[in-house]
Amino acid sequence: MIYRPIVIDEEIKFSKKKFIVSKTDLKGNIVFTNKNFSEVSGYTEAELVGSPHNILRHPDMPKAVFFLVWQTLLAGQPISGVVKNLAKNGRYYWVIADLEPKFNSKGDIVALTAFRRAAPQDVIDATEELYKTMLSIEKKHGMEKSLAYLEAFLEEHELNYNEFVDELIRPKGILAALLTAFKKMIG
Ligand SMILES: Cc1cc2nc3c(=O)[nH]c(=O)nc-3n(C[C@H](O)[C@H](O)[C@H](O)COP(=O)(O)O)c2cc1C
Repeated sequence: MIYRPIVIDEEIKFSKKKFIVSKTDLKGNIVFTNKNFSEVSGYTEAELVGSPHNILRHPDMPKAVFFLVWQTLLAGQPISGVVKNLAKNGRYYWVIADLEPKFNSKGDIVALTAFRRAAPQDVIDATEELYKTMLSIEKKHGMEKSLAYLEAFLEEHELNYNEFVDELIRPKGILAALLTAFKKMIG
C-alpha cells in the first residue's frame, strides 16, 4: 500500500539523457520499470511493480488529458503527452511521455509502454498554461467541458493532441535518434 505524498511546490530536474521507462497491463498496473524511474520518482522498483500508474498522478493534471490518453491507447494508437508527475517526496517533475500499445500476433493489445524524457522549459510553460485553464474548467463544470476546451484549442491551432505535442517538442538530433534506438531495444 502506497500513501499519497503531501504535495510540495518544488521541481525535480533531471538529465535530458535519462529516459524513464515503464510498462503496464491494460488496466494501468505497472509491470516493469527501469532504474531511472526509481531514481527520479523516489519509489523503489518493488513499490512500483504491481501498483497502478496513477501513484504518480499530480493534482495539477487535468483528468481530460488521461481520458484522451486511455481512449487513444485502447483504440490501438500511440500518443505523446506532456505530464506533470508527483514524486514520492511530494515534489514534481515534468516529462514528455510517448505511450504505445503493444500487440500479440493475433493483434490484441497485451501491454502499454511509456518512454519519458525531461520536458524543456518552453514546453512546460506552454503546457502549464493550457492545463491550468483546463483544470479550472474541470473544477467548475466537469471533465467533458475541459475536454471540449482542449478540442477547441487544438482545432483553433489546426492540430490534434499528438501534433500539438510534436509541435512543442520537435525532437531533433542525437537525443531523438537515441530514443528511437532505445525504444527498439525494449520492444
Ligand atoms: C503506459 C502508461 C504510463 C502512464 N504513465 C503515467 C504517468 O507517468 N503519470 C501519470 O500521472 N499517469 C500515467 N498514466 C495514466 C494513469 O494510468 C492514470 O490514468 C492517471 O494517473 C490518472 O489517474 P486516474 O485515472 O486514477 O484519475 C500512464 C498510463 C499508462 C497506460
